[in-house]
Amino acid sequence: MTTNFSDETLPSGQDLLVLGIESSCDETAASVLRYRGEDDVEILSSIIASQDEAHAPFGGVVPEIAARAHMQKIDGIVEQAMDVSGMSYESLSGVAATSGPGLIGGVISGLLAAKGLALALDKPLLAVNHLEGHALSPRLAEPCPFPYLLLLVSGGHTQLLSVNGLGDYTRLGSTVDDAAGEAFDKSAKVMGLGFPGGPNVEKWAAKGDPKSVKLPRPFKGRDHADFSFAGLKTAVARAWEASEQTDKAKADISASFQRAVSDVLAERTGKAMAMFKDMHGEDAKRFVVAGGVAANKALRERLTQLAISNGMSFFAPPLKFCTDNAAMIALAGAAKLAAGQTDELGVKARPRWPLDNAAAKANPASGYGKKGPKS
Ligand code: KG4
Ligand code: ZN
Repeated sequence: MTTNFSDETLPSGQDLLVLGIESSCDETAASVLRYRGEDDVEILSSIIASQDEAHAPFGGVVPEIAARAHMQKIDGIVEQAMDVSGMSYESLSGVAATSGPGLIGGVISGLLAAKGLALALDKPLLAVNHLEGHALSPRLAEPCPFPYLLLLVSGGHTQLLSVNGLGDYTRLGSTVDDAAGEAFDKSAKVMGLGFPGGPNVEKWAAKGDPKSVKLPRPFKGRDHADFSFAGLKTAVARAWEASEQTDKAKADISASFQRAVSDVLAERTGKAMAMFKDMHGEDAKRFVVAGGVAANKALRERLTQLAISNGMSFFAPPLKFCTDNAAMIALAGAAKLAAGQTDELGVKARPRWPLDNAAAKANPASGYGKKGPKS
């Protein structure tokens, strides 16, 4: 449940100091951020403890291992973030934490830590949608006013959204099966490139020929902005099976796969740009790519060109803020606090939490479970 404060009850106008906590997947992270408005943001600390080594033997994130690691690390990471920021707990304006979507054990660990702090310090709690953190992440580096078209590409999500305002999203397209990051991770696993897959595929791709292996471009030319990556993943597995399984094959398949994903993301985003322009007319000027896969340099280059050819400005968070971090959670929390939207201490962790709930309900991207649309 969200409480709306009047302006007089806001802690200190628009000069806010927020601690953010992130624990929805396999990074335990905390950050302290100063917020003086949506175009005036200063990161005072950003600490990230990766669990890559713990999950690497399994070639993917193991939820039980992740939950235990978050529980063990979270207090120390928060303390470190406070120490580095040089700020006292008492000077905080609020405490923000990812409260979904994500792996429920991890989300509960971070949210509980935030609730404990908010209660002990008597500060507002901000329950943040992890995807909204990614959506606002370009603002960690530079001003990026609403509205903007967002391509959100991570390990769990691939979506195109019109970001109309804080908490106000219109979904224009979405994957009907795997997320793009998942396709990177599974392709890497098939070829034995290591975990996490994305950065390893990118390294191998740099040594290969992107035209050497023929791979599909799912949904190309279709009159909507949805994606499909399952066929691409299967095609990579077949190409690997049929190859000599040498280092050259790893490089060539990685390069061809990375080119195919970039082609698909760019072509589908082109469709969404037209939809976004229909929605916003002259205000349709900005395009943002965010989420872990946005760290891919070939993809960034490709999307920069696409934005230019559509007369739009290109925005992307700095590489280190593409993958999961707590600065984006502190930022989304601060924006909520500035808007007077705080949460009750009883707020629940939500494994599923689409940004555009109406669209997700009407047309769930990847299935509909007991608890509602998955995405
Ligand atoms: O946003 P994120 O850290 O976590 C989720 O919210 O899912 O995204 C992680 C995903 C993983 O699938 C990872 O392989 C992918 O982002 N990724 C990349 C790169 N760096 C991370 N994919 C392609 N190229 C990269 N350089
Ligand atoms: Zn993420």
